[in-house]
Amino acid sequence: PDTEAQAHFDALLAADERIEPRDWMPAKYRKTLVRQISQHAHSEIIGMQPEGAWISRAPSLKRKSILIAKVQDEAGHGLYLYSAAETLGTTREEMNEQLMSGKAKYSSIFNYPALTWADVGAIGWLVDGAAICNQVPLCRCSYGPYGRAMVRVCKEESFHQRQGWEILHALSNGTPEQKAMAQDAVNRYYGPALQMFGPPDADSPNSQQSMAWKIKRFSNDELRQRFVDMMVPQAEALGLTLPDPDLAWNEARGHYDYGDLDWDELKAVIAGNGPCNTQRMAHKIKAHEDGAWVREAAAAYARRHTSTDAT
Ligand code: ACO
Repeated sequence: PDTEAQAHFDALLAADERIEPRDWMPAKYRKTLVRQISQHAHSEIIGMQPEGAWISRAPSLKRKSILIAKVQDEAGHGLYLYSAAETLGTTREEMNEQLMSGKAKYSSIFNYPALTWADVGAIGWLVDGAAICNQVPLCRCSYGPYGRAMVRVCKEESFHQRQGWEILHALSNGTPEQKAMAQDAVNRYYGPALQMFGPPDADSPNSQQSMAWKIKRFSNDELRQRFVDMMVPQAEALGLTLPDPDLAWNEARGHYDYGDLDWDELKAVIAGNGPCNTQRMAHKIKAHEDGAWVREAAAAYARRHTSTDAT
């Protein structure tokens, strides 16, 4: 029966159809999805911290409302993604535990500080721009619940990128100090945004199998290239410079060449030694502990309702 189930799974993949929660799937396919989807969810949740810290300091009421909406969207993305991962049989509590114990990863990018208001713009433009490049192909992920969650996530990310671009556009066309602040934010965030796509293909242990399973549709380097190609004209329109002296159009390849990235930095940040790793985890754990009474109250309420319904 297992060979029959495997053949059915293979046939669904070959036909570009979705695998759904009730379908048989190889144990490693399930494990890979739980790993990627839960880490993706954790990234959305931890990603609220750097920008959330600017809600009380946004420069106008309008900017503040937009930022609140954006940070709430990230919370929503985390929740859809936890739900998608739960369809694979891992509970939300387990995933949360893995995050807080340091067993599960979250994106390296959220371990950098948002030092100025321009950083909020750079996060929207560069970080959410990278997220879109990475996530649009995930809408076609072979696992149904993940792919469907990505459709809405990508629509919202597009709005986030646009708002980041608009913040930088206003600053870039403002006073010389504002323009310098925008350039400084781009200088600090560009390299780490390129690192979000993961290690180079030759050093990416999961890519090959994930692509064979049609979880990932493109390799880390392919998506990174797509991102660079997308950002160069946008930077020109902003009047800002991307901090890479090797960036140059390559007519033969039809793509921009770009300089080497600092892979030691990515490794160090993933290993827990980025500028804000300790702060991010401490904040997450404190928020979880502070929320204990809400979880208890919700559970008590649910118990009462179930017993009322039953009688
Ligand atoms: N930050 C932290 N960890 C990373 C990063 C990064 N930027 N890039 C790679 N890694 C980790 C991988 O998770 C993997 O570790 P694991 O096996 O313990 O999970 C290891 O480094 C090796 O990398 P790969 O073999 O290339 O891993 P994978 O095939 O999973 O590709 C990628 C990594 C591209 C991040 C993939 O998991 C993915 O597309 N995830 C969904 C998107 C996502 O998580 N985005 C988060 C940021 S966007 C946002 O939230 C706004």
